[in-house]
Amino acid sequence: MNRKAFIAGNWKMFKTRAEAQATVRELVRLVGDGREVDLVVCPPFTVLWAVREVVRGTAVQLGAQNVHWEEQGAYTGEVSVSMLLDCGCRYAIVGHSERRQFFHESDEAINLKLKKVLSTELLPILCVGESLEQREADQVQEVVLGQLERAMKELTAPQASRVIIAYEPVWAIGTGKTATPELAQEVHCILRRWLSNHYSDALAAQTRILYGGSVKPENARRLMAQEDIDGALVGGASLDPQLFAKIVKETLTNIN
Ligand code: PGA
Repeated sequence: MNRKAFIAGNWKMFKTRAEAQATVRELVRLVGDGREVDLVVCPPFTVLWAVREVVRGTAVQLGAQNVHWEEQGAYTGEVSVSMLLDCGCRYAIVGHSERRQFFHESDEAINLKLKKVLSTELLPILCVGESLEQREADQVQEVVLGQLERAMKELTAPQASRVIIAYEPVWAIGTGKTATPELAQEVHCILRRWLSNHYSDALAAQTRILYGGSVKPENARRLMAQEDIDGALVGGASLDPQLFAKIVKETLTNIN
């Protein structure tokens, strides 16, 4: 199965408008027309419009870092799918570990968000991953499959087939510690097997599963060479267009 490589940059709470536009301008210049890969940036909400102005008509696509499950209403501080679509977003990250950890986002909320996103043309990037304590207690499989199962509860096969999954071990995010390619591959394989058992071999074979957690140009090549790793969700290194473009290049030369 030939899955198109997918690289997303999660900018988190970084960059003003001028910084954001300069970053994507440089990124567009560096990656050129690289459409062999789905290349996405996920800036803060405040600069989505500004980034869209720069990336429109280029190979760089737009995603959001979070979304609410209601269409509209009295939800102070939240942003809806219609608002994201209006800004030109194609993707939304759902269930990032920082949302789970710092904002107490539950599996139930993540499930509602996924369902809402999938009722529109937006595509969700669903994050799962274990903490260091859970890894040390040998609970990786139980944790990631539990998160996946609860997040995807009641999704039909057509809905599930549109989910992009990101495996992000919490201990590897922003720490400089990357999972070894073998260790990441093992979890990706477990996730794909779950999709196969719960949906079908065909759905499992076409689903893109990204790795995230301290991805850098130096480690991207070996990670992407793994059979079940189809791309990356990049935090820190995506803030620098030179580094991010290098990761794209490494991915393209090594994707299986
Ligand atoms: P990192 O972040 O690349 O800075 O480790 C990854 C993420 O949180 O998506």
